[in-house]
Amino acid sequence: MGKGYLGLIEDIRSWLRFQQSLGMEFVSSSPGISGFLSSADTHDPARKNVPGGHFFAGRSRDGVPGSSVSAPGSDTLPGLKSKVEKCTGCDLHRYRTNVVFGEGPEDARLLVVGEAPGRQEDQEGRPFVGVSGELLTKMLRAINISRTECFITSVVKCRPPGNRTPEQHEIERCAPFLFRQIELIRPSFILALGLIAAHTLFKTDNPLTSLRGRWHRLDNARVMVTYHPAYLLRFGGMRQKNLKREAWHDLQMLEKEYVASKNA
Ligand code: URA
Repeated sequence: MGKGYLGLIEDIRSWLRFQQSLGMEFVSSSPGISGFLSSADTHDPARKNVPGGHFFAGRSRDGVPGSSVSAPGSDTLPGLKSKVEKCTGCDLHRYRTNVVFGEGPEDARLLVVGEAPGRQEDQEGRPFVGVSGELLTKMLRAINISRTECFITSVVKCRPPGNRTPEQHEIERCAPFLFRQIELIRPSFILALGLIAAHTLFKTDNPLTSLRGRWHRLDNARVMVTYHPAYLLRFGGMRQKNLKREAWHDLQMLEKEYVASKNA
């Protein structure tokens, strides 16, 4: 038999949590479902600390030379961080308040890669602390991964003015820092959020739809690609519903392998 009744209940609970994280009000407006979700919190004490309610209460096998950009020499993550903080390799340094190097355990099993810092990240010098970050935290929680166990960073470490998409030359200047982070952290898993992250890691311009929802490999890490939280927040209606369903599929694939490798 597959997962059985309890497994099915847990799947439904996770799905409802994920829906709620994306702002589905009917979830929180139903006392029955709210109680159902609250009861899940007892499994994970960390969930209780999350603001926003009970819910949240190498070389690629694709043949893509992921690490071929020469990485700036630094043997430690703090050493690399101070290099990045001094970087004037592109014009983005002129506009930044802070470099956003990324944060998390130096030996994190999961590396999360976004696109570039936004306004709030630039102000605080920390990754994913704005609205997208809130959603990212909830997405991770929905698959029982706490934000603090991941190393979270972005391809580009300085905020592009007006939150525009980073330009190719800016990505090319910054990508070596990301690849060096990967070499130093040696994550077992990478979650690539959105097109810029996926394209940079795999040196491809394939559409996201062809990259997401399946495993890739980059050096020692297994890589899952999914939509960037900001992209999920951009749409409403059926479009958003479909994107959310796909993102949920990707996240569940990650959860399954992440848990299995933890227990191996
Ligand atoms: N979006 C990103 O890709 N990175 C951040 O740090 C914040 C928002």
